[in-house]
Amino acid sequence: MKNTLIIYDSVFGNTAKIAHAMVSALEEHREVDIRLVGEVFPEHLDGVKTLIVGSPTRQFKATGALDQFLKQIPAGTLEDVHVAAFDTRMTPEDVAKNKFLAIMVKFFGYAAEKISRQLIHLGGKEIVSPQGFLVTGMEGPLVAGELERAADWALKIINYA
Ligand SMILES: Cc1cc2nc3c(=O)[nH]c(=O)nc-3n(C[C@H](O)[C@H](O)[C@H](O)COP(=O)(O)O)c2cc1C
Repeated sequence: MKNTLIIYDSVFGNTAKIAHAMVSALEEHREVDIRLVGEVFPEHLDGVKTLIVGSPTRQFKATGALDQFLKQIPAGTLEDVHVAAFDTRMTPEDVAKNKFLAIMVKFFGYAAEKISRQLIHLGGKEIVSPQGFLVTGMEGPLVAGELERAADWALKIINYA
C-alpha cells in the first residue's frame, strides 16, 4: 500500500508540474501515489497516512472539481492523517497591476488556505503551512525555481510525518 497520496487539479498544466516535482522528490524516500481529481474517489484514502492536496487558484479558491471532491469525503476520514495543502497562483506583481484584483485578493485570498481548512475540518493534522507556487500571468508558465521550491516543501512534509 502506498501511504502517501498527492491529489491535484490543473487546467493549464502548471499545478500538474508542481505535483509531479513533489512526487520525484518524495519517491526517493517512500512510495507515492498521485491522482488527478476526477480519477480519485474517497476509497483511495484508505490506508493513506500523508495526504497532499493542490489546485490552481481560480477566483480566490480551488477548482470546483477539487472542492466537490473534498466535500464528498466523510467527516473524520482524515483522523490520524498528516495533511498539507498547496496552490498555484499569480505573482504579487501581476496581482498588483489590477487594483480591483489586488483588493479582492486581500479579502478573499487563495486556494491553499481554503483547502487546508477543509482538510483540517475532515480531521487531518496539518504538517506545514499551506503554500502557493507562482505562475507568470494568468496561465503560466511557472516562475523559475518553483519546481525546486515545491520539491523542498514536499520533503519538509515527510520529515515531520
Ligand atoms: C478564470 C481564472 C481565474 C483565476 N483566478 C485567480 C485568482 O483568484 N487568484 C490568483 O492568484 N490567480 C488566479 N488565476 C490564475 C491561476 O491561478 C493560474 O491560471 C493557475 O495557477 C494555473 O494553474 P494550472 O496551469 O494548473 O491550471 C485565475 C486564472 C483563471 C483562468
